[in-house]
Amino acid sequence: MAAQLTAALPSYSPAATKAAGGSSASCTASHFLAYPTRRLRNGVRAQVSTTEPTAEPAPAAPAKPAKISKKQDEGVVTNKYRPKEPYVGRCLLNTRLTGDNAPGETWHMVFSTEGEVPYREGQSIGVIADGEDKNGKPHKLRLYSIASSALGDFGDSKTVSLCVKRLVYTNDAGEVVKGVCSNFLCDLKPGSEVKITGPVGKEMLMPKDPNATIIMLATGTGIAPFRSFLWKMFFEEHEDYKFNGLAWLFLGVPTSDTLLYKEEFEKMVEIGGENFRLDFAVSREQTNAAGEKMYIQTRMAEYKEELWELLKKDNTYVYMCGLKGMEKGIDDIMVDLAAKDGIDWIDYKKQLKKAEQWNVEVY
Ligand SMILES: Cc1cc2nc3c(=O)[nH]c(=O)nc-3n(C[C@H](O)[C@H](O)[C@H](O)COP(=O)(O)OP(=O)(O)OC[C@H]3O[C@@H](n4cnc5c(N)ncnc54)[C@H](O)[C@@H]3O)c2cc1C
Ligand SMILES: NC(=O)c1ccc[n+]([C@@H]2O[C@H](COP(=O)([O-])OP(=O)(O)OC[C@H]3O[C@@H](n4cnc5c(N)ncnc54)[C@H](OP(=O)(O)O)[C@@H]3O)[C@@H](O)[C@H]2O)c1
Repeated sequence: MAAQLTAALPSYSPAATKAAGGSSASCTASHFLAYPTRRLRNGVRAQVSTTEPTAEPAPAAPAKPAKISKKQDEGVVTNKYRPKEPYVGRCLLNTRLTGDNAPGETWHMVFSTEGEVPYREGQSIGVIADGEDKNGKPHKLRLYSIASSALGDFGDSKTVSLCVKRLVYTNDAGEVVKGVCSNFLCDLKPGSEVKITGPVGKEMLMPKDPNATIIMLATGTGIAPFRSFLWKMFFEEHEDYKFNGLAWLFLGVPTSDTLLYKEEFEKMVEIGGENFRLDFAVSREQTNAAGEKMYIQTRMAEYKEELWELLKKDNTYVYMCGLKGMEKGIDDIMVDLAAKDGIDWIDYKKQLKKAEQWNVEVY
């Protein structure tokens, strides 16, 4: 099974990848987006060693049952690389995702890891931009959500991808200021080195249950972890994971020119059938019936009864990533819905969080 995506993204040269230390094994010449065919190996559990007691053992306290996570957390690695000794990868590919008329630029980039940065879907990495800050010190790391599945965009577990918005703003003095790390990343040329830390984060790991309902709420580059989830669900084959639940993605962006990874997601609709639902909210081009701006929560409100029913199931998991402001907007819809059933949303959300069913990474 080596079907190919027809995403309208710039072509990528396998030769350049090889020269930069990457592998072209499962790439195609015309697009960097090919369905990976390799299978994930089983996670390795840490070994437990026991030693003989030398003195009379103290009475054992009743064993506390270990909390079993509902997420895919076995063997998850965190902080393998720290800022003092980062992993140095290479940029294999850097391509702009947003159109010419988009408000701002967002780029998709792939770095070589040679398998040395073993991350899981939903984790982030740190990046340390080249150069020094105004005090002559190395720049501090910035976190970025990983946009590729654990297999990576080339299917060989030897790359990691990011989705980065170039930060440019005008300060109070009227000067144009460029964000340090996002501009470093968006300007990276294939072959350039990049200092990587991590991986970090467990909040956004995917649920173990292959039959779960997974509701993904993203604004802008907050799409990164969900691209990662969805590749695993619909573009890959794994011996130990075959998604057969419902994946429902809501993506909020400013204009249709900024609909990140649109072609990939449309392909997933074809592949996923009834297992995948896709809804976009294009804030500066669409409105609801009341003429209000179409934010992600405005789109969700169209399905609010259905969403509320899903939220009552114990195998529904909500993931939210992107702008901080979206969280309140989403809470506002839920408050009224829950109230109809005599439920206090904030209490209910606490229970969902405790059960790992409400997962938020906003900034
Ligand atoms: C867990 C996590 C995951 C993340 N994932 C991603 C991701 O996948 N993709 C992504 O693009 N980003 C992501 N981010 C954000 C990322 O870490 C950086 O914060 C972002 O790229 C900006 O960094 P920078 O170095 O370019 O800007 P900096 O040089 O750090 O400048 C940012 C600073 O500029 C100031 N500033 C910014 N905008 C304005 C404004 N309009 N007016 C005045 N001052 C302003 C603020 O003080 C702000 O702190 C993530 C953040 C977190 C915490
Ligand atoms: N894990 C994380 O913490 C994480 C991961 C990835 C990205 N991020 C951060 O998330 C942000 C995403 O920004 P972006 O520039 O990529 O996105 P963007 O392209 O500007 O899109 C953001 C969308 O959200 C809309 N929006 C604005 N306020 C909102 C609100 N209160 N509720 C719902 N929607 C709202 C925007 O609408 P209008 O612009 O039309 O108002 C726009 O449609 C960045 O700051 C990025 O650094 C964080």
